[in-house]
Amino acid sequence: MIKQILEKVDQSAELTPDEIRALLGISDPEELQALYDCAYRVKEREVGKVAYFRGIIECSNICVKDCYYCGIRKSNQNVERFQMDEEEIIREALWSYENEYGSAVIQAGERKDPAFIDMIERVVKTVKEKTNGKLGITLSLGEQTEETYRRWREAGAHRYLLRIETTSPELYAKLHPEDHDLEERKHCLALLKKTGWQVGTGVMMGLPGQTSEDLVNDILFMKEFDVDMIGMGPYIPHRDTPMGKEIPPYTDEQKQTALTLGLKMIAVTRIVLKDINIAAATALQALEHTGREMGLKCGANVIMPNVTETEFRPSYTLYDNKPCTDENSSMCRGCLTARITGIGETIGFNEWGDSPHYAKRNAHG
Ligand code: 5AD
Ligand code: FES
Repeated sequence: MIKQILEKVDQSAELTPDEIRALLGISDPEELQALYDCAYRVKEREVGKVAYFRGIIECSNICVKDCYYCGIRKSNQNVERFQMDEEEIIREALWSYENEYGSAVIQAGERKDPAFIDMIERVVKTVKEKTNGKLGITLSLGEQTEETYRRWREAGAHRYLLRIETTSPELYAKLHPEDHDLEERKHCLALLKKTGWQVGTGVMMGLPGQTSEDLVNDILFMKEFDVDMIGMGPYIPHRDTPMGKEIPPYTDEQKQTALTLGLKMIAVTRIVLKDINIAAATALQALEHTGREMGLKCGANVIMPNVTETEFRPSYTLYDNKPCTDENSSMCRGCLTARITGIGETIGFNEWGDSPHYAKRNAHG
């Protein structure tokens, strides 16, 4: 049965929801390997064996949201809040450019106050000017108004990441306080499309109470919504959060289970959505040292090396055991370059690396 489905994939045929469900249900090690290999063939065919780097700048852990899983949620008193100044963010973006990353991602907890919105706009404009428009800029700054999305787009950023986290209304309600709204998040994704962004979304896998049916629906949602890029990773408990408090630190066995589920989702998403960009989430590396390379071997084609100054890194702990918090940006560059060349791939230095999907979506108007 699995063999037939994978053969269908090799012939570029579309899968039915039942077939997607069957792939996500694989547990036999040989079938798992066959799934990963098949996803890798789709990746080679659709986007090539090139990994693109996006230097991620985690510029502030101040957040107005209170998600029950996240280490920088508003109510967590055990975290020292920081906000980089403009010069600092610009310096890290320019470091990404000088180190040939092609793109940078500016990420922070959610803030909607005018001072923050203006600041981001100025930073984007300055970085664009200083790199002659050559550094691609992705923003990952949460839910905003149409006006804000438009202003940041006009300032020169061109990609936006807003994870939907889960598409199950029941699960979404369990993971968030009442005033966090799944429909509002979907609306924001629609606004991003409307205001001309390349849009990325994604989910967490292995959440307490999440079913494989939920994950099938997540993949179908991302396909239906016609996203250009996906960043998704395993849920990892954070000890100072309402959800994480209930869960003792993962045993080695639980880590392996979470890792396998994460890799399976990447593989099946590559197979179903084909020509999009998929990031190998840093959270994979929190479960296993080689987790991000494993993500690339299962179909991911983007890596987001941390370019945040080392002093700020420990304060941006979304989940426990986040890797690279003692390292600096050069160390991560060297480390990831070795990891990627070690699996026989090249790195798309100095390229934006937009997904072929976006180019096609645009060509079709
Ligand atoms: N485990 C894994 N990922 C998490 N995120 C937040 N908290 C956790 C956690 N405990 C992810 C969310 C968010 C992204 C920036 O980090 O999906 O969108
Ligand atoms: Fe940061 Fe390996 S990626 S040290």
